[in-house]
Amino acid sequence: MNCAERLVSLFGTQAEVSRRLKLDRAVVSHWVKSGYIPARWAMEVEAVSEGRIEAVEILNEANRLRPVRVKSRGEDEGVFGSAITGSDIMNSFAPAKRIHSFHPPQRTLMGPGPTEIHPRVLTTMSQPAIGYLDPVFVEMMEELKSLLRYVYQTKNALTFPVSGPGSVGMEYCFVNMVSPGDKVVVCINGVFGGRMLENVIRCGGVPVVIEHEWGTPVDPQRLEDTLKANPDTKIVAFVHAETSTGCLSDAKTLVEVAHRYNALTIVDAVTSLGGVPVLVDEWGVDAIYSGSQKCLSCTPGLSPVSFNERVVEHVKARKDKIHSWFMDMNLLLGYWGATNRTYHHTAPTNSLFALHEALLLIREETLEDCFARHRRHHLALKTGLEAMGLHFLVKEEYQIPQMNAVRIPEAIQPKEAEVRKRLLNEFNLEIGAGLGPLAGKIWRFGTMGYSCRPENVMLCLSALGSVMSDLGMPVHVGDAEAAAHDAYAQMHKHAALQKKRVA
Ligand SMILES: Cc1ncc(COP(=O)(O)O)c(C=O)c1O
Repeated sequence: MNCAERLVSLFGTQAEVSRRLKLDRAVVSHWVKSGYIPARWAMEVEAVSEGRIEAVEILNEANRLRPVRVKSRGEDEGVFGSAITGSDIMNSFAPAKRIHSFHPPQRTLMGPGPTEIHPRVLTTMSQPAIGYLDPVFVEMMEELKSLLRYVYQTKNALTFPVSGPGSVGMEYCFVNMVSPGDKVVVCINGVFGGRMLENVIRCGGVPVVIEHEWGTPVDPQRLEDTLKANPDTKIVAFVHAETSTGCLSDAKTLVEVAHRYNALTIVDAVTSLGGVPVLVDEWGVDAIYSGSQKCLSCTPGLSPVSFNERVVEHVKARKDKIHSWFMDMNLLLGYWGATNRTYHHTAPTNSLFALHEALLLIREETLEDCFARHRRHHLALKTGLEAMGLHFLVKEEYQIPQMNAVRIPEAIQPKEAEVRKRLLNEFNLEIGAGLGPLAGKIWRFGTMGYSCRPENVMLCLSALGSVMSDLGMPVHVGDAEAAAHDAYAQMHKHAALQKKRVA
């Protein structure tokens, strides 16, 4: 049986299929007659049949029976006028089906990153390519470094974006700072602290782990006790904003404690940078890394890092060779340092143009207003989610405005993946799932960077309300939006009063 026939037999009649898919009966009848379901219906059919007919089966069948054709050229016209099928010996390596240019759908991204990207950043990214040592590019690199110093609130000379995602920034810190045998205290309160531990082990360090319950912040007292018991600790590592739980730790106090015991600090600011204050110099953070795709709202693949002078001296004083050639700070300095730039690796130039523009947007908005925006939309979203009967995982005082993790009601847990799938298919809306022990138990709503806008908050609330009520939850569609509107109104009133008082 082909997919169209299976679909009809699943629901009994063509009329029932058309009712469920909200389609004209003639469309379903055409599927049955032609013997396949067109590829564009693959996701809807998979959703309606609750996975009994998978999208991939429909796509394979449709491609087999109605191969996609290249529209811009005749069938046997190659790029240089020669035949593209038949005698070309390289054809045996060509993909089985013809491939079109890729056009991603327009999604509303409210997961834990990546975020949507501001049109100015996308336009900048599509500018003509130039060389990574072009004098114009080199000038832009200096501006980029100074914009990064602004978002990190630091005067650290060694502040630049490593080529690679946040995980590369993480490895850059550990691989440069941890020598084999070094004792490193790793504070774990979610997925990403666990990755820090992996890095310590792979660098040959001696880890001392402080495990916390997921959803709680790193406890400065436990850090102090651990350092007292391990006075030979060289480094303390922790995640400022744990993306897997939406929990913010008190970075300032943790750094203070580490310094009392003469340890250097490595801070993960992948989710915090640009969404809440990250005051590198004021807090005395030694080494820090972030990612371009969260509150900086740029394309993924760059990791801003910053080392203070203590770390630079520590790395330069190492007697052993740093175990990664690509991430060796001394070699990278040759390209990102202040003078005499030399080739290290081919920098991702257009992505760097984009980061420059994304940071410029923050500079124009100002960091203070950027934090206030994240807080405002977090509060509206939170009010709406709570009006829907959802509860936050993390206590109010530790909640991260840009990463909202809520517990999924038990009745919905078996269908949580279906909820996310329906949000994506029906509303083009992406939200995040839980990770590790929280998989299936929480949803994560990101209000980060350019995704942090009122229209996204309202879409998220109404789409979630509609899907949950469809699945039989006692959710009153419209209540969440009304609560969020009310929260916005209160905030506007408060802001107007403040303005009046200042004037
Ligand atoms: C706190 C934290 N650290 C590190 C990473 C790793 O970043 P990337 O996925 O860009 O490699 C992430 C990614 O979500 C993160 O949230």
